[in-house]
Formats: sequence, C-alpha cells, structure tokens
Amino acid sequence: MIRSRGSVITTGLLVVVGVLFVAAACTSEPIAVDVPRDTGLPADTFLTSAFAEEFPIHFESYLGNMERGGEYASKLTVDVEPNLPMLWSNLAFSVSYNMPRGHTFALADVLATPRIGDASIGSCMTCKSTAVPALLAEFGDDYWSASFLGEIAPRTRELIEGGEMDELGEYGHAGVGCADCHDPQTMELRITRPSLTNALERQGVDLLEASRNDMRSYVCAQCHVEYYFYPETRKVTFPWDRGLRAEDMWEYKEEVARERGFEADWIHGISGAPMLKAQHPEYELWSYGAHGTAGVSCADCHMPYQRIDGRKVTTHVWGSPLETVEQSCRTCHADQSATDLTERVRGIQERHLSAMHEVQDLSVDAHYYINRMITAGADPAVIDEARELVRKGQWFWDIIAAENSDGFHNPHGAMDAMRMSSDASNAAIRIATAELVRLGVDLDELRDQIDRTKQEVYDEPDPLRKHELVTNDFFPFQG
Ligand code: HEC
Ligand code: HEC
Ligand code: HEC
Ligand code: HEC
Repeated sequence: MIRSRGSVITTGLLVVVGVLFVAAACTSEPIAVDVPRDTGLPADTFLTSAFAEEFPIHFESYLGNMERGGEYASKLTVDVEPNLPMLWSNLAFSVSYNMPRGHTFALADVLATPRIGDASIGSCMTCKSTAVPALLAEFGDDYWSASFLGEIAPRTRELIEGGEMDELGEYGHAGVGCADCHDPQTMELRITRPSLTNALERQGVDLLEASRNDMRSYVCAQCHVEYYFYPETRKVTFPWDRGLRAEDMWEYKEEVARERGFEADWIHGISGAPMLKAQHPEYELWSYGAHGTAGVSCADCHMPYQRIDGRKVTTHVWGSPLETVEQSCRTCHADQSATDLTERVRGIQERHLSAMHEVQDLSVDAHYYINRMITAGADPAVIDEARELVRKGQWFWDIIAAENSDGFHNPHGAMDAMRMSSDASNAAIRIATAELVRLGVDLDELRDQIDRTKQEVYDEPDPLRKHELVTNDFFPFQG
C-alpha cells in the first residue's frame, strides 16, 4: 500500500553520511546567559505576568507567541484532511478539529472549543493552563473527574483574575507559561504535571536525577504526549508501561487498559467498532527517531538561541523550526544549506502525508464494509472480528496523524506504523468481503455507494456539517 518504501531506504543511507558531519559540528556548548537565579517570587507563583518585570528579555521573546494566533483554521477541509469526518464519525473531533496555535492561546482555545461539553472533566484542562498545579492543590484527586464547565473553568477564571496584561489578551497570562517549565524562585527547569512524573517512575526513571539535556525535552513531555483517562479516577495517564513506540502503546491499550476496564474512547458511527483516539505523541515519536536517539532535545530545534538587545537568550516562541533553520538546524548540520535542509524536511513530510492519505482512505473503506456486513445480517462474531481489525488499523494511522510534525520527528517509525495500519485495514476488508460474498451481497453496488458517500462528504463546503453526511439511507448510523 505504501509506495514510498524505496525513498525511505534512500533517506536511511543519507543519514549515515550526515552523521559524520554532525559529530564534528556539535561539540561547542551553548553560551550561558546571565539571568537572576533568585527571583524573589513566591514558590506558588503561576501567572505569567508575574515574571514580566524580572525577565523583560524573555518576556519580549515570549510575546512572539501572540503572533501565532490567527483565525481558527479547521483541518477538516478537503485539502487538509478530507477523510476525517468519516474516520471520526460519532466523535466530537469530527465536528471541530483546528490547527494548533501558540502557547499563549492554549487556555483561551480550550475555553472556546465546541468539543468541550457538559460531560467534559477537569483532566481536559491539564495541558492548557499554568493554573493546573493550583487547581490540583485545591481539588486534590477530585480535580481529574470534576466537571470542566461546572467547576474547573469557573475556578480557573477566579484564580487568574487580576493578572491580565494587555499584551497577552484575555487569557494569555495563564495559558502555557513560565511556571509550567520553571521553578519560579530559581528558574531551574522543573516538571509540574504528575502524569509525566508517574509515567517515568513506572519505568524506573527518577526525574530528580534527570540531566539538563533531558529536562530540555521532559518539560515538553508534560503535554506533547499520548494519554488517556484512567478508568474511574479519570486521571490523565500516559500509556507507556510497555514502551513508547506506536506498537507498544497499542499493546498497552489492548492488554493493560482494557483489562482495567478501559474499552474505548468512542463507538464508531459507521462500523459500530469500539475505537481509540490518539493525541499528539510528539515526545514518543521523537524519542525513537534519529534526533531523539542522538539526544537532540526538543529545545535544540524549537527553542534555539536568539539575540535580543545584544544578549543571547533561549527563544521562547514555539513554532516551526523551519522559520529559524540557521539557529535550529545549521548549528549541527553546517554542511547543508538552509534551503537544502528545508527541502529535506518538506520531502519527508510530502512522502509522509501521501502515505497517510492512502492508509486513511483504506480505513474509511473498512468502516463502510463493516456497516454493510451489519445491514446484510452477517454473523455477529465475524462482525466483531472485523471491528477489532478496523480499530487496530485506525489506531496505527491516528497515533501518527495526531503527531504534529507530519512525519519529520520520526519518518521511519511513522512509516512502520502506517504499514501496520494498512495490514489491519486490509485484513478487515478481506474478512468482510468473504462474509458479504457468502451472503450474496452486490460488491459493485457497495463500492459505488462508498465512493458516492465519500464524494458527498468532500463536496460539502461547511466543515462543521460534513459529519452529518457520513451515514445515510444506505449506510445507517451505528453509534
Ligand atoms: C514550555 C517550557 C517553557 C516555558 C513555558 C518557559 N520556558 Fe524559559 N526555558 C525553557 C527551556 C527549555 C530553557 C532552556 C534551559 C536550559 O537549557 O537549561 C529556558 C530558559 C530560560 C531562562 C534561562 C536563560 C536562557 O535564555 O536560557 C530564563 C531566564 C527563562 N527561560 C525564563 C522564562 C520566562 C520568564 C518564561 C515565561 C515568560 C519562560 N521562561 C517560559 C522552557 C520554558
Ligand atoms: C503545559 C502544557 C504544554 C507544555 C509544557 C508545552 N506545550 Fe507546546 N503546546 C501546548 C498546547 C496546548 C498547544 C496548542 C495551543 C492551541 O492551539 O491552543 C501547544 C502548541 C505547541 C506548538 C505549536 C505552536 C503553533 O503556533 O503552531 C509547538 C511547536 C509546541 N507547542 C512546542 C512545545 C515545546 C518544544 C515544548 C517544550 C519546550 C512545549 N511545547 C511545551 C501545550 C504545552
Ligand atoms: C531536529 C529538530 C527537532 C526536534 C529535536 C524536535 N522537533 Fe518538533 N518539529 C521540527 C520540525 C522541522 C517540525 C515541522 C515544522 C513544519 O512543518 O513547519 C516540527 C514540528 C513540531 C510541532 C508542530 C508545530 C506546528 O506548528 O504544528 C510540534 C508541536 C513539535 N514539533 C514539538 C516537538 C517536541 C515536543 C519535541 C521533543 C519531544 C520536538 N518537537 C523535537 C523539528 C524538531
Ligand atoms: C544538536 C544537533 C542537531 C540539531 C540541532 C539538528 N540535528 Fe538533524 N541530526 C542530528 C544528528 C546527530 C543526526 C543523525 C542521527 C542518526 O542518524 O543517528 C541528525 C539527522 C538528521 C536527518 C536525517 C534523519 C532523519 O530523520 O531522516 C535530517 C533530515 C535532519 N537531521 C534534519 C534536521 C533539521 C531540519 C534540523 C532543524 C529543524 C535538525 N536536523 C537539527 C543532529 C542535529
């Protein structure tokens, strides 16, 4: 299914050549910056505005995130993600799924998204606001399962009141901010989210012994990771006990999470299959990609040094490293021009996205084949068997699609996962086909109906209405 196998191998060869140059270029240590290490701020400081006076240069850099706002851009359009309304049928994501914006908008965005409803819980706030440790201190373990709209959002608004700054808009003073990554008194990097500490502890990693270089990625791993809500407590939990690869997390979800009572994130509207939804595993994919393995941290690329007022500081604007290739990449890859490096990234991403669209398309077909099995009165045991395979096929592309680098952080790991996806979806379609043939179902008509339904979804111009068209008279809703 995935045609770019040949080009993956070529990239592999290029890497080996690249390392020789990298090793020579990477020996110089970054220059330390002279900043106050005894801030005089109280230990429980969490509003970002409280840091402005003491750290004017970092603050100036941080304000750059406000330029990363823009309009909400939906990903559910034909050119970006044409198949998602079908693939996420009966899940709130199929109604609204937007491109990420800057860290300063995280709180504003979670307070505004239509995906939050009466059933949403405190856990949804966990990667959106510097107020979370304060909320945890106040609510204790009830924080995770507390009502988002009824308790957590109103209390957050109270806690952050009075700390506003014009430059940061209504909620920027409590979006992702200084206190999430820094001890407010010493400015040492620190971890504030217990989900990461607990996940690492279960792997025998003691954060207190983490090196400075590890911390430059761990701070990001508080949020840029896959997670699920632990049964009953609804606590944000990272599925890492079997390892960090897509297949390790799959094993965890199937064996550990299911055993503990976590069956599914939702029931699919087309196939009725019990589905899993993946979330932004940037840290996991990075960890077994070329850079993660070589110890190149998130901050190396996403927070390179920048010069402000004649001083060299760590950039505090989080966005695309391709906007800063000189500082983000050429510090190590000095043998390649900025244009060549950018083209290599774009090449990796293009191959990645075209493979992604193919495996997603196959997943869509698998869901509709199962729907036809249901309406044709197929053997329930065979339907369940096909449903398990469609669940697996979808997991292995979704965990990769949810990763925001479009394959760059780990091109090989992503291709491997997409191969597992197409294997599982093909197996589901094979099982369904055999059963439908046995039942005398017209397969040509089925193919026609699948194509017609897809086309109607593609043609609907309003991204918010597409999900209404994914089931119809021929393919009745199964959620
Ligand atoms: C998402 C995590 C994150 C957030 C949010 C964050 N920082 Fe940092 N900060 C870092 C990292 C990573 C470094 C590099 C530390 C190192 O290499 O030891 C850093 C370095 C620093 C330093 C040390 C000097 C330097 O330039 O390297 C200061 C001071 C600092 N940040 C201040 C701030 C302030 C003030 C805010 C809020 C306006 C903030 N940081 C928000 C992650 C963060
Ligand atoms: C406390 C949680 C949290 C931490 C810690 C965190 N992030 Fe984020 N990050 C987010 C959220 C949430 C968004 C999406 C914001 C939105 O769209 O509203 C985001 C968005 C981003 C983006 C996309 C920005 C854009 O404009 O497209 C990048 C890049 C990013 N983060 C990198 C990092 C890096 C690198 C680190 C570590 C140094 C880090 N983040 C630490 C929560 C976090
Ligand atoms: C070797 C450099 C490098 C390292 C290391 C790295 N990234 Fe990236 N990251 C990139 C590039 C390149 C992109 C793609 C940017 C683009 O498409 O414009 C990207 C994209 C992203 C995005 C999506 C940005 C957006 O605007 O949508 C996020 C979020 C992100 N990285 C987070 C992380 C985190 C977290 C880590 C560490 C676990 C990390 N990255 C490690 C280079 C790096
Ligand atoms: C701190 C050093 C460092 C930085 C910064 C860095 N790289 Fe690398 N990069 C490496 C090393 C080391 C390898 C080789 C790893 C290996 O093959 O074991 C590598 C490998 C690569 C590869 C081939 C591996 C693959 O994933 O296909 C590409 C492409 C690449 N880097 C691009 C970039 C880009 C683009 C940036 C900036 C966004 C960047 N690098 C930033 C050190 C770095």
